[in-house]
Amino acid sequence: MTERRSAQQVVDGMDLSGKACVITGASSGLGRESARALATAGAHVVAAARNPDALAQTAGWLAAEVPGARISTVPLDLTALSSVRAAAATIGDITPVVHVLMNNAGVMFTPFGRTRDGFEIQIGTNHFGHFELTRLLVPQLAAAAGARVVNLSSGGHVMGDVDFDDPNWEKREYDKFVAYGASKTANILHAYEADRRLREQGIRAYAVHPGTVATSLARYMSRSDFSDLRKLVAASGAARGEPTDGHLDFTTPEHGAATQVWAAVSPELSDRGALYLEDCGISDAVAPYARDEQRAGQLWELSEKLCAAR
Ligand SMILES: NC(=O)c1ccc[n+]([C@@H]2O[C@H](COP(=O)([O-])OP(=O)(O)OC[C@H]3O[C@@H](n4cnc5c(N)ncnc54)[C@H](OP(=O)(O)O)[C@@H]3O)[C@@H](O)[C@H]2O)c1
Repeated sequence: MTERRSAQQVVDGMDLSGKACVITGASSGLGRESARALATAGAHVVAAARNPDALAQTAGWLAAEVPGARISTVPLDLTALSSVRAAAATIGDITPVVHVLMNNAGVMFTPFGRTRDGFEIQIGTNHFGHFELTRLLVPQLAAAAGARVVNLSSGGHVMGDVDFDDPNWEKREYDKFVAYGASKTANILHAYEADRRLREQGIRAYAVHPGTVATSLARYMSRSDFSDLRKLVAASGAARGEPTDGHLDFTTPEHGAATQVWAAVSPELSDRGALYLEDCGISDAVAPYARDEQRAGQLWELSEKLCAAR
């Protein structure tokens, strides 16, 4: 097996000075590692997160890890569109140009709950909040004349599709696995449609599966959830004709962040977009419903409508 690259190795030798990179969920896991790698290469990192203490701690850690790093912090709670809108305005004040928007923040397998605007928590945090943030930052992204939007999705998108009749679980019994899958499917559909709609403004968009990474994302998982997940991995391996015992092969955040950093800066992706990326490469492991152009357009219109109404 080829050795996985780390996020630091991806930026090795690159000069990103003068580039502004906004990262949501920068206070932990993959977002924090992406921030470190991009700052190492000289980028101005705009770190957004919801917990002010964790954000301040992250800024301190980055300053210690990368002396001279240019770091800005922005409070952002994706479960409140009012916070998303305030964050977009703050980012606009910090930088008139955004070269990279990494929509990285996320929650997984949360118990049923609603955001302040009434969205189901997983799709509200992982998709609708990021949809609105991206929409509001289009002027700054267009100003880069070559910007990239990187949506953190997951191989777990195969667990669920977006239900256009009931995106916020008002009519069905809640299933936290399907709800996570739907939110990660939405991340892919959003990236594909953003690329189609925004490429003429020089904005390209990607969806990323980072691998299985040991981070705080599993904080809502019980022992039995882990065992259910292993069964699911085994079943999906069997369906692909790749038998597995369902063993979860965890990697570190340093390596897990490599693909999203690669998506953000790799010259190999110049003039390309609407791609699903994995292991620092283009992957075709996307469920058909997650790459359906018509559904991507439908989700865009639904997201515009639901966000505008709140
Ligand atoms: N780790 C994996 O194996 C894996 C696999 C596939 C995909 N992913 C995706 O990778 C992304 C990053 O996950 P991670 O593994 O780095 O998890 P993590 O360590 O839990 O980091 C998630 C980040 O998102 C933030 N966040 C959560 N809810 C938020 C909200 N309402 N507003 C603003 N920020 C919020 C968290 O802040 P708090 O700490 O304050 O909650 C944290 O900074 C997620 O989108 C996830 O779905 C991860």
